[in-house]
Amino acid sequence: AQALFFDALVAWQRRLGRHHLPWQGTRDPYRVWLSEIMLQQTQVATVRPYYERFVQRFPDVRALAQAESDEVLAHWSGLGYYSRARHLHACARLVVQEGGRWPGSAAELQRLPGIGASTAAAIAAFCFGERVSILDGNAKRLLARLLAFGGDLAHAPTQRTLWQQAQGLLPENASATDMAAYTQGLMDLGAQICTRSKPRCPECPVAALCLGLAQQRVAELPHKSRR
Ligand code: ADE
Repeated sequence: AQALFFDALVAWQRRLGRHHLPWQGTRDPYRVWLSEIMLQQTQVATVRPYYERFVQRFPDVRALAQAESDEVLAHWSGLGYYSRARHLHACARLVVQEGGRWPGSAAELQRLPGIGASTAAAIAAFCFGERVSILDGNAKRLLARLLAFGGDLAHAPTQRTLWQQAQGLLPENASATDMAAYTQGLMDLGAQICTRSKPRCPECPVAALCLGLAQQRVAELPHKSRR
């Protein structure tokens, strides 16, 4: 079943997913990294103009590393979660210090400031076609429904299980271009179809594979207790 899910999502992303976001159409790790950090806690519509201004002023990792902190923060002003901007700047300086070359795998990217497991996977899948799965908030919701997985997202063991499930959905022979389309497909499905409230199941390309839908449990998934 995992190949069915992967293939259906890739096909749907190519036909009906998003293809014209400003950070698409590049495999430049700098631009992909910047967009993924901005998108961590902020919506696409908000990020767009910030991303455009940011890459205008800081077109590559060296330009960003050389900038004063005040100017970096000024370009972030209004996006919120300012620790992201501080980590961003520290990360740029570290990459330049190490010779200006980005690490080539999710495992190494994850050691850099501000890059968590899901962000590292997104960069590696988009830029290098690495066979690694993202697992951001949208992907967790989507997987919990797909698998009718009732584990409590507030519990650490549940997170480990979901990571294993997410990774298990990737076919052994997934190609680099498929990995990029699949990763964008997870994001697009989570943002446009498998939404938190009022999911559009009749339009979902993987509805036939969705155990949550079959068991009429979509509305109650994912389960998240208060911490
Ligand atoms: N959310 C996180 N990363 C994204 C991306 N690359 N495109 C759209 N939404 C996203």
